[in-house]
This record gives sequence, C-alpha cells and structure tokens, in this order.
Amino acid sequence: MKCLRTCTLLLVCLCTFGLVLQTTFKPQLFTTHGIHRSLTINTYTDLADNENRTGALDHLRPSQKPTKVPAGHPSDWRVNELVASRLEQISNMHRERRVDCAAVIRNNKTAMAEAISVAKNLADTRDKNFNINIHLMNQTQNCSHFLKEYGFITDVLSKEEEEFPIAYSLVAYTDTETALRLLRSIYRVQNVYCIHVDISATSRTMGALTSVVSCLPNAFISSRRVNVQWGHFTVLEAELICLQDLWRHKKWKYFINLTGQEFPLKNNFELVKILKSYKGANDVHGTIKYRRLNRWNFQELPHNLTGIKGWVHVSLSRPFVDFTLHDPRSQDLLDFLKGTWIPDESFFSTLNHNTQLGIPGSFVGLNETEQRVGEKPTFNRYKMWGRNPCAKNTVRDICILSTGDLPRMVASDFLFANKFFLNEDRVVIGCLEERLMNKTRDYYMGRLQFNTSVYENSVIVKNRIRDETGG
Ligand SMILES: *[C@@H]1O[C@H](CO)[C@@H](O)[C@H](O)[C@H]1NC(C)=O
Ligand SMILES: *[C@@H]1O[C@H](CO)[C@@H](O)[C@H](O)[C@H]1NC(C)=O
Ligand SMILES: *[C@@H]1O[C@H](CO)[C@@H](O)[C@H](O)[C@H]1NC(C)=O
Ligand SMILES: *[C@@H]1O[C@H](CO)[C@@H](O)[C@H](O)[C@H]1NC(C)=O
Ligand SMILES: *[C@@H]1O[C@H](CO)[C@@H](O)[C@H](O)[C@H]1NC(C)=O
Ligand SMILES: *[C@@H]1O[C@H](CO)[C@@H](O)[C@H](O)[C@H]1NC(C)=O
Ligand SMILES: *[C@@H]1O[C@H](CO)[C@@H](O)[C@H](O)[C@H]1NC(C)=O
Ligand SMILES: *[C@@H]1O[C@H](CO)[C@@H](O)[C@H](O)[C@H]1NC(C)=O
Ligand SMILES: *[C@@H]1O[C@H](CO)[C@@H](O)[C@H](O)[C@H]1NC(C)=O
Repeated sequence: MKCLRTCTLLLVCLCTFGLVLQTTFKPQLFTTHGIHRSLTINTYTDLADNENRTGALDHLRPSQKPTKVPAGHPSDWRVNELVASRLEQISNMHRERRVDCAAVIRNNKTAMAEAISVAKNLADTRDKNFNINIHLMNQTQNCSHFLKEYGFITDVLSKEEEEFPIAYSLVAYTDTETALRLLRSIYRVQNVYCIHVDISATSRTMGALTSVVSCLPNAFISSRRVNVQWGHFTVLEAELICLQDLWRHKKWKYFINLTGQEFPLKNNFELVKILKSYKGANDVHGTIKYRRLNRWNFQELPHNLTGIKGWVHVSLSRPFVDFTLHDPRSQDLLDFLKGTWIPDESFFSTLNHNTQLGIPGSFVGLNETEQRVGEKPTFNRYKMWGRNPCAKNTVRDICILSTGDLPRMVASDFLFANKFFLNEDRVVIGCLEERLMNKTRDYYMGRLQFNTSVYENSVIVKNRIRDETGG
C-alpha cells in the first residue's frame, strides 16, 4: 500500500519531468521501422465502461457464418462484426511492413536474407534519445487511448477461452519494451497477470510498468519486490510472491511463469487448447540423470524427498500451485532449499517428481522415462542451449533468438521462446507478433483449426497423477 502511494507520487513527478523533455521524443513503438501508425478505430470498447465482461459473448450479433466452425466455438458460433473489424485492424497494426514475414517463416532464402539485413540496419539506426519509459507514462494517462493505440485485445474471443483463464507471472527488470510487447501479446481480459519488477530496476522502468498495469484491470504489480539475484533464493522468492498474489484470484486454471525477455509462439486460443489437453498435468522439466548432489550440499532432503533438478520454466495446474503454497511439506522443502545453490531449479522439479506426495498432475516414473527415452520432454520453452541450432550469437551458452531462427521456432511445438534482445533484432519479434495476430484473427473467424494431438499424447500427459475426479 505504502509502495503504491510512493509509486504514484513518483509517477506524477516523472511525468512532469517527461513533459519538460517532451520535444525530443518521437513516438516509435511497436513497429520495426520506428514509426508509430495512428489508427482510427470505432469498434473499441472501453474497459472502464465494461469491467464485468463475463457476459461479453452474449452480445454477439448474428453475422455471416464462419467458413468452418473450429472446435472450441459452439456450433451456433457467430462472428461479431465489431470484434472482427477490431481484430483485423490490430492485425494490420502488427504487420511487419519492411519484410515479408510469411516468406521468412517459410524459410524463403531471398526473403530471409533481406529480413536479416533489415534487422541489422534497424539495430544500428535506432534513436538513442527515445525513452520508452517516459513515453509510456505519458501514453497511459488516457487508458482507452493507450489500449487502442497499442493494439491490446480487450474483447473475449471465444467461450472456451473465457472459461479457461490463465495466470501469469512476469519477472521484469530492464527491457520495458520487450516486457510490454510480451504482455500485450498474451493479454486477454479473462486472464490474470502479476508483474514483478526487480527492486533494483530504475524508478522510470517501475513507473512505466506501473502505469501500463494501471490501464489493465486484471494485471497488477506484485505485492512485494525483491532484488532478484541469479543463483539465489530471491529468484524463487519473486515467483512465490506472485503465486501468492495470484492465488487470490479464484478462476484461473493454469499458471505460467515468464521473464520479460520471452515471447509466445502460441496465442491464447492455442494455449487454452494445449493446457486443456494436459488434463491437469504439470509441465515441469526434471532430471535424475543430470542432477548433481552437491546442489543440495550432499544433504538429505526433508520428508525423504528425492532431489530433482529441472529447467525453471513451468506450466502448473491450479491444484499443484495449491500444494506448493499450502502444504507443510512444500514449506519444509522450501526452507531446506533456501540455503542451496539455484533453488529455483530444484523446488518445482522436486515437488513434481516425488509421486508419494500425490500432487495432482505430477509425473510418475521419471527415472524410467529417462532410461527409456533419454530425457523427459517439455513444451514450455524454445530455448537453444549449447550446440543446438542458433542463427546468430549465444550469451552464456543460450541462443539469443534472431530473424534467422524464425522458421525453426515457429515450426516447433513449444509454447514460448527464450530469449530475445530487442535492441539487437526487432524483426524477429515483429514477425512473431504478425503471425500470432494473424492466427488470432483466423481462429476467431473460424478459418483455422488447431491440432492438439502432440500434447494430448505426450509423455507428460500419459504419466500424470490424476486428480480425484479422474481428470
Ligand atoms: C504526451 O502525449 C500527448 C498525446 O497523447 C502528446 O501530445 C504529448 O506530446 C506527449 N508528451 C510527451 C512528453 O511525450
Ligand atoms: C457480471 O456478469 C454476470 C454474468 O453475466 C452477472 O451475473 C453479474 O450480475 C454481473 N455483475 C455485475 C456487477 O454487473
Ligand atoms: C498475415 O496476414 C496477411 C494478410 O491478411 C498476410 O499478408 C501476411 O503475409 C500474413 N503474415 C503471416 C506471417 O502469416
Ligand atoms: C521468395 O520470396 C520472394 C519475395 O520475398 C519471391 O519473389 C520469391 O518468389 C520467393 N521464392 C520462393 C521459392 O518462394
Ligand atoms: C481518451 O482517449 C479516447 C480514445 O482515444 C478519447 O476518445 C477521449 O476523448 C480521451 N479522453 C481524454 C480525457 O483525453
Ligand atoms: C525416511 O525413510 C526412512 C526409511 O526409509 C524412515 O525410517 C524415515 O522415517 C523416513 N522419514 C520421513 C521424514 O518420512
Ligand atoms: C519461473 O522462472 C524463473 C526464471 O525465469 C525461475 O527462476 C522460477 O523458479 C520459475 N518458476 C516458477 C514456478 O516461478
Ligand atoms: C534410477 O534407476 C536406477 C536403475 O534402475 C537405480 O539404480 C537408481 O537408484 C534410480 N534412482 C532413483 C533416484 O530412484
Ligand atoms: C492431428 O495430428 C495428428 C498427428 O500429426 C494426426 O494423426 C491427426 O489426424 C490430426 N488430426 C486432425 C483432426 O487433423
């Protein structure tokens, strides 16, 4: 509460400061070539006028029949023309004009070479004086203006998505623009978003993200902020603060954790289909084969738990989050891990692979799976380590994804990709946005189907602990 007030004050100061500096700022967000296109959209519905959006689909007006009714839309599905035209407009807004993204994604060599050179050129010629934080604090003073101009989707697009809200945590530090574009791409009114802004982030970053969040009724800044330091408990702490904050929201079905340098490969329609096809399974990576007992200082874990190491990116069912937050054994594990190195790689993985805990959706037979198929699959992240293919450069052994990675990335079954540096390549995110938005429009119009068979038939779903309802 105290922070909120301080932050608001801060915001006011910074905005005033921003106004003084105003002449040098060129609005150049969200397009690769730095020109902000103005839109005239009449179909926009103001969030503030319509906060209770649960009944939004009831107002759909009959229109032309979609060519094909995708699974997830009821058979009497009608396209609402207002929503359709808004989606078309956002789609146009997100179009990457300088390159042919569709051709790049098909790996057309000519288009690819051109796109890579455009990306390089853009990185070199960005306006260094443009301060996105100040710009955003200004732009968000009028929320309806902001949401409209920045192409946020503020309509419920299907019954199925409406009934399957997703909770997100987003750990942000420096790159406001990437975090914002990520947030925009996953934003839907039925979901919930907790943003943890590192305590050591600048007050401008905090001010900008606070003001963005103030325009989104279902997004908030975490109730507490910590100084996240790689390898330490603080990484996990930031996530747990968000999880606790999110838990108060009763409706969401799955939790996904993100960092500010990631981007979705699937849109909300697809994410809902995928998570539903998990049938309560958690997607938490784990390995026995590659764990090192020194991670736990060669000590026994509490409750005879087997220590498991895994990747930090997770998709968790609500019952799993319940256990994590409220079961005393989870608390004991957490206390034990506080004194260990990189506890965030141990906590969720250990919980998800100790079947004696009986956590719904957790994984049966990790050891056997590893011996049978080499490793346990996970769909959470397209993240290229070590000798995996990488079009450009790696940082600390992780590929920084760029335009040349688009065809591989897009063809994969992963939900999100990690990691991007916007100041090195703006085309890659531009093309991902274009494609996501095209697909959002096409699912809404009933022109596209999504096949979930790879998820439904996955190892993680087949080997899950089912909940009482058999789900
Ligand atoms: C703030 O935004 C308004 C329009 O929304 C614009 O006229 C003004 O120049 C902006 N000020 C700054 C400091 O960017
Ligand atoms: C919100 O919408 C639901 C479903 O349409 C309705 O039952 C409820 O009364 C509404 N609440 C408010 C405050 O309008
Ligand atoms: C998106 O759709 C437009 C047509 O509406 C098309 O020109 C463009 O190539 C599509 N982009 C991708 C990445 O599919
Ligand atoms: C590749 O894309 C270019 C335009 O970007 C087009 O002229 C050419 O026909 C495409 N080639 C193939 C093989 O699709
Ligand atoms: C806020 O923006 C909306 C949409 O652009 C506009 O209609 C409205 O007049 C603006 N309100 C104020 C107070 O500027
Ligand atoms: C751990 O297992 C041993 C034997 O395998 C048992 O004696 C002990 O009580 C167990 N401890 C806990 C905390 O369950
Ligand atoms: C989420 O991501 C961060 C790293 O980005 C990780 O440290 C954390 O433990 C992850 N897991 C959860 C459930 O938050
Ligand atoms: C995994 O399986 C191997 C071979 O069956 C066995 O020796 C080992 O103890 C198992 N590890 C755990 C942690 O269960
Ligand atoms: C979905 O994909 C699977 C495997 O690729 C295929 O066997 C199945 O026929 C597809 N289902 C539909 C409805 O297209």
